[in-house]
Amino acid sequence: MDRYLDPQPTPEDLRIEGGLRPQRFQEYIGQSKVKENLKVAIEAALGRGEPLDHVLLYGPPGLGKTSMAWVISKEMGVGIRITSGPVLERTGDLAAILTSLRDGDILFIDEIHRLNPSIEEMLYPAMEEFKLDLIVGQGPGAKTLRLDVPRFTLIGATTRLGLLTSPLRNRFGVVLRLDFYGLEELKEIVLRSATIIGVHIDPSGAEEIAKRARGTPRIANRLLKRVRDYAEARAEGVITLQVAKRALELMDIDEAGFDTLDRKFLLTIIEKFGGGPVGIDTLAASLGEERGTLEEVYEPYLIQEGFIKRTPKGRVATDRAYRHFNLRFPSHPDQKGLPLEE
Ligand SMILES: Nc1ncnc2c1ncn2[C@@H]1O[C@H](COP(=O)(O)OP(=O)(O)OP(=O)(O)O)[C@@H](O)[C@H]1O
Ligand SMILES: [Mg+2]
Repeated sequence: MDRYLDPQPTPEDLRIEGGLRPQRFQEYIGQSKVKENLKVAIEAALGRGEPLDHVLLYGPPGLGKTSMAWVISKEMGVGIRITSGPVLERTGDLAAILTSLRDGDILFIDEIHRLNPSIEEMLYPAMEEFKLDLIVGQGPGAKTLRLDVPRFTLIGATTRLGLLTSPLRNRFGVVLRLDFYGLEELKEIVLRSATIIGVHIDPSGAEEIAKRARGTPRIANRLLKRVRDYAEARAEGVITLQVAKRALELMDIDEAGFDTLDRKFLLTIIEKFGGGPVGIDTLAASLGEERGTLEEVYEPYLIQEGFIKRTPKGRVATDRAYRHFNLRFPSHPDQKGLPLEE
């Protein structure tokens, strides 16, 4: 199924994201606390003439972790090498990258929670002392060779902070969490992206897209592109409020930014499980989705916006979820799921 609201990048997203990526702090909208923290660390490092401390960025997908790594490299005026946990298969891969860096360069490792343990071990001395321990030879004759590597900055990104081992996590000097964006910030992002891709958009059209983007810039940009297609095919090419509304309706994205699957998720809790609590595994089985997908893709936004709550006994639909479907929140068990009276 086509999920417009999946925060994971599609191949098309990846193709256009490069052009939409903010280059400097000034263009990077929102996340002001994260930016402030980074600016201080960068100024201090530049002042001392040293590489920036290792930085760990975490938070849900599509909020701008990779973009932030690029911005940091621009602001520091250093090069950046990009790789990811699952791509680094052998210790030799990491050794080759580390030795090819220049002093002060950034190594960006996406999905750093998925590093192979032997590579992770190799990272420890590299991060702490800029040393690489290579094992040369085999069997009883094997020796460890200690090499210097350039004084680099590691920027790690993860959607799952909890899956990082503590020795790795503790080696980052700066650990920052990216949060969902507010409406005004997303609107600004949509307006900025519209200028870059060259489509006319009314502020009210931008706001409508922002409202339904689940606090996520990647989704906002994706919706913008679909709405632009609609505007070009069905309306003089300008994204007005009406055009945005009609296009988003056609995509089956409702006013809260939910698509069919979100609605099914909430209605399953409400209708099949009496509003909960219901365990995540039961829900996953009932929806025919993977538990991890529910936890990483659907739930973060639903929880942040207060549509569901995580309790020790399982997920619970809130008053807000009932209201979304015009259902009455059950104060007595026998009232569960009755339509609201006008
Ligand atoms: N603060 C921002 N200002 C403007 N555009 C942004 C901002 N953050 C993200 N974007 C846009 O959203 C897109 C996705 O961001 P990015 O790839 O950095 O997300 P990510 O957090 O690395 O996601 P993932 O976890 O999936 O790797 C970028 O191409 C960029 O266009
Ligand atoms: Mg990324």
